[in-house]
Amino acid sequence: MAKVKSTFYCQNCGQQSAKWVGKCPSCNEWNTFVEELIASETEVKKTSNSISSSAKPVRINEITQVNEERFSSLDGELDRVLGGGIVKGSVVLIGGEPGIGKSTLLLQIALQLHHKKILYISGEESISQIKLRADRVGIQNEECYLLAETATEKILKHLKAEMPDFVVIDSIQTLHSPFIDSTAGSISQIRQCTAELIKFAKETNTPVILVGHINKDGAIAGPKVLEHMVDTVLQFEGDMHMAYRILRTTKNRFGSTFEIGIYEMQSNGLRQVSNPSEILLSQRNNHLSGIAIGATIEGNRPLLIEIQSLVSVAAYGTPQRSSTGFDAKRLNMLLAVLEKRGGYRLGTQDVFLNIAGGLKVEDPAMDLAVCVSLISSLEDSEVPKNYCFAAEIGLGGEVRSVNKIENRISEAEKLGFEKIFVSVNNLKNIDKSKKAIEVIAVNRLDEVLNSIL
Ligand code: TYD
Ligand code: MG
Repeated sequence: MAKVKSTFYCQNCGQQSAKWVGKCPSCNEWNTFVEELIASETEVKKTSNSISSSAKPVRINEITQVNEERFSSLDGELDRVLGGGIVKGSVVLIGGEPGIGKSTLLLQIALQLHHKKILYISGEESISQIKLRADRVGIQNEECYLLAETATEKILKHLKAEMPDFVVIDSIQTLHSPFIDSTAGSISQIRQCTAELIKFAKETNTPVILVGHINKDGAIAGPKVLEHMVDTVLQFEGDMHMAYRILRTTKNRFGSTFEIGIYEMQSNGLRQVSNPSEILLSQRNNHLSGIAIGATIEGNRPLLIEIQSLVSVAAYGTPQRSSTGFDAKRLNMLLAVLEKRGGYRLGTQDVFLNIAGGLKVEDPAMDLAVCVSLISSLEDSEVPKNYCFAAEIGLGGEVRSVNKIENRISEAEKLGFEKIFVSVNNLKNIDKSKKAIEVIAVNRLDEVLNSIL
């Protein structure tokens, strides 16, 4: 029996300390140190995830380039988010609120991957619960194996015996390693179990996906080092009451971090939404004021989304400002610009702004659409249905250029819009001639508002 040792860990950043301290010297958080029991350091080190010791320095141009080997997950959205498929030997961490659909997504992927041997390991649900879910999703796959187990030494034994092509672990917080005495879900356990799984993935070139719980701030529970250890970190998010779910990359060693994947939760599992604009726009009513369409970009993907606003005289003293899916500070700024530069009397009005479909946008190119939607509601004058907008608004009321304007315009064109309003400064990048959509270049916000409302 190894000598039992205890160490204090910062639950926020994973900083170690021999004694308890009130304030973490590394991340400056208060009261985050918790004592955890560990076995002897040497035993932990034996299994830690280190690069082989025989490596020696090599000249960079002598290294022959090897492209990372990938295979498709047969899920277009996940493939895109991962940068073009699952990389062999990579370790992916997927985080998200409870009930958002992490287990459903991964089980679905496991079931879809025909001709590959999959091992789905769950520490949260029993095998029969998983089977029930698989029946609900309704996909058959003979080569998908289930295992309900939480001890890493047993899991690794099964992994080495079965040698699957793809491993799912649901979730990393439920695993425990015999090398560490503290309870499952503690910082040192999470770190140790992840290290063991990474070692397996790298040695056998097997891709592993880990599910990670998130804490109340929305970060993946466990030390920040966990995110440093894995190759890719995905975030599965969305409103629990809305059907749409968005898969985002926050870190990716094998691709860009700007891509998103969109799914819709249905009664038989998650459905890929490959043309999101159509869904987001399909519920549009005719003849309603306060609605404007903005052309935004999520990653490399253009999206046309509907902005709804309601501006009405404040019934009780202080006017309310409320926004869903759009930054409230930015909304206040745009209201101030409209008041000061456009002369609109918004100070006495309640303003409600909503991005349809439960999406959140941070793209400044939505500014113009937001302003048009607000004034459309204020004046109760409808924006023509086939107009859309893509420009930022400056504090002087000027219409500013935005990035990737070509993508935005072609998406709007594809969806049959007649006119798109952009900044004059964007014009030099656009070839207007061969477009079915009319690109209207504007200089000032009031020009747009006067011409359409
Ligand atoms: P789950 O995948 O278990 O979420 P997580 O693993 O992230 O905690 O649960 C997803 C939720 O979606 C659950 O509340 C039930 C619901 N659901 C459906 O609406 N349709 C389905 O086909 C399935 C399997 C689940
Ligand atoms: Mg789950």
